[in-house]
Parts: sequence; structure tokens; C-alpha cells
Amino acid sequence: MKANGVDYRTVWMQGGVVRMIHQQLLPHEFAIIDLPTHRDTAEAIRTMVVRGAGAIGAAAGYGMAQVVLEAPDGAGFEEYLARGAETLRRTRPTAQDLFYAVRRVLAAARAAGSVDAARRAAVAEAEALADENAAAGEAIGRHGADLIPDGARVLTHCNAGWLAFVDWGSALAPIYAAARQGKRVFVYADETRPRCQGAMLTSWELQGEGIDHAIIADNAAGFFMRRGEIDLVIVGSDRIAANGDVANKIGTYEKALCAAANGVPFYVAAPTSTIDPDCASGDDIPIEERSPDEVLYISGKTDAGQVCRVRIAPEGVQARNPAFDVTPAQYVRAVVTEHGVHATDALPRPR
Ligand code: MRU
Repeated sequence: MKANGVDYRTVWMQGGVVRMIHQQLLPHEFAIIDLPTHRDTAEAIRTMVVRGAGAIGAAAGYGMAQVVLEAPDGAGFEEYLARGAETLRRTRPTAQDLFYAVRRVLAAARAAGSVDAARRAAVAEAEALADENAAAGEAIGRHGADLIPDGARVLTHCNAGWLAFVDWGSALAPIYAAARQGKRVFVYADETRPRCQGAMLTSWELQGEGIDHAIIADNAAGFFMRRGEIDLVIVGSDRIAANGDVANKIGTYEKALCAAANGVPFYVAAPTSTIDPDCASGDDIPIEERSPDEVLYISGKTDAGQVCRVRIAPEGVQARNPAFDVTPAQYVRAVVTEHGVHATDALPRPR
């Protein structure tokens, strides 16, 4: 997608260096960061310089390719691969795409006949993963656009756009595709506390695509639904269990409950790489708990133009910060993947 008129992917690799859009600086600054080693890439995932399931997956795939490129020839090669894979897996626990990508790149390297072949295979597999992710986003857009009638008012939560993917996105892709089909679409973007991915990233993306939207407080979605001002909800996902339960950004479950109470269709968009056949139900999905400081402070730009973090809570008080929640399958009208629109009990399996 375009930023400042230039086509970008969210993350890519150049000569062994992982490059990505620095998402912590958006929307106030657009910058590219270079990550020369797999440890730098892992740290960028852990600290959310890159975030969003699809982008995390692609970054982890490239990080695993860096591990294989960095590994010593000879005796220590296999051990380095195993330790590097573990470093990447330990960054964030919920997004399935991360584990999917590490598994695929590691398997490609191990299946190659020599160290040189393993290095080439790892880079090729990481590139293939990134291409598949971008193509899946575009396909999700095509299939999902049929769910968005002309004049629709759509609610979305967090950021599941091209910044959360390699390109296109998941939940925002149908909105982009519908708008490009000439449909008028209005988006309500939840601010998505505590890190405000909706207010900072989704709004930046929609502004860049010229899509009419309004940022709302997370607690306002029910108000607009009850007044009949929201026609459908579409969100992304970090992991989908085998029974169709969906993990996504904290607050998604409440939107699903509000939607059910007000007869508003609730859709989930995600590639098959997000589906985890080994998780029988949502109760088996590991939920990340992040630093309480993300709740006690908020980041922004002063009128003087200074980007800073300020404390909003009294000194000395506690906070809890689960980063994701689970929406039971019964609240999900359908899941949009790169293969089409599916009922939650008829989901395709990942590759
Ligand atoms: O903590 P984040 O910003 O990585 O959470 C992102 C989300 O919850 C997105 O909705 C999800 O990853 C889907 S985007 C492909």
C-alpha cells in the first residue's frame, strides 16, 4: 500500500537485513528501521516496532532466515538454529502466524542438503511466506468486499490493515477493496486502548486511502450500535481455534456481545496461517499479558510537536493489561480467509 505516495510493504528483507516500517513512531513520523540480526528482529517483535499477526509472522519468518544465515558452519549449526527459533518464539505468545512462520522456515532449512542450501532455502521460504501473506490480504479483500454494501457503516477494532500484514491487511482489506469498487464506506475505528492501534494506525491507514472514518472511544461502539448507526463489524484475529473461537485484541469480545445484542453481523478476517488446528478451543489459546505501564501511561504528540509519554493514573496504583481476548465462535457470523467466506464450523486448514 502507499505511504507518502510510495508503495511499501510493512516488512521486507534486503541482503540479510530485515527492514520494516517503525510502527511505534506512527502516525507522527514515518521511518524505516534496519534490523541486522535475528536478535534485533526478535526485539522489534517483542517491543511492537512491528505488530499485527500477519506482519509479526512475516518478521518472524525473516528473523528465522537471519538465524540460518548467521549460524556457524559445521558442528554448531543445528544448535544455533534451535536456539534462534526459541528466541523468536519467546517474543509474543498469542499470534499463531509467528509460530507458523518459524516452523516453515526451520523445516525448509533442515530439509536442505547442505549449509549453503539451507541458507538459500530459508531465505526463499521467508520470502514465500511474505508473498503469501500479501496475496492472502488481497484475496481476503476480494471475498470480504461482497459483505460490504454500498453506503455501509463499518466498525473495526485495533489495526488489522496493511500495517498488521505484509500488504493489504485482513479486516481493512475488504474495506479497501469495496472502496476501490466505488462503494461508499464509512468506518468507525475504535481507539483501542491501551496502545491505541485504532486511533494511531488504522486512522493513519484510512486517511492514506482517503476513506471516510471517525475514531471513537472503545466504550462508544455499543452506543452507536444501539442507535442503528453501525451496519457490520469486521475485525482481524491473532489465532483461531479448531472450533472457531477467535482470539483478537482485547475488547473484541465486548464488541461481539454488543453486536449480538443489537443484531449487527460480526465478521472476522484472517488468513489460514492464523488458524491453529492444535488449539481445540479458545480456552487453549495463550493470552499475552503486557506491562501495566501500557495502561498507566499514554503516548502522543504535544501541540509543540513533541512526541512523548505521559502518566494518566495516580502514582503507586496497580494496572492489569491482557493484550487479547477470545470471542466464542457462536458470536462470529463468518470468517473471511484467502479462500472465501466460511462458517466457523467449516474453516479451511492451514498449509
Ligand atoms: O498487539 P497487536 O497490535 O499485535 O494486536 C493486533 C491485533 O489484535 C490485530 O487485530 C490482529 O493481529 C489481526 S491483524 C492481522
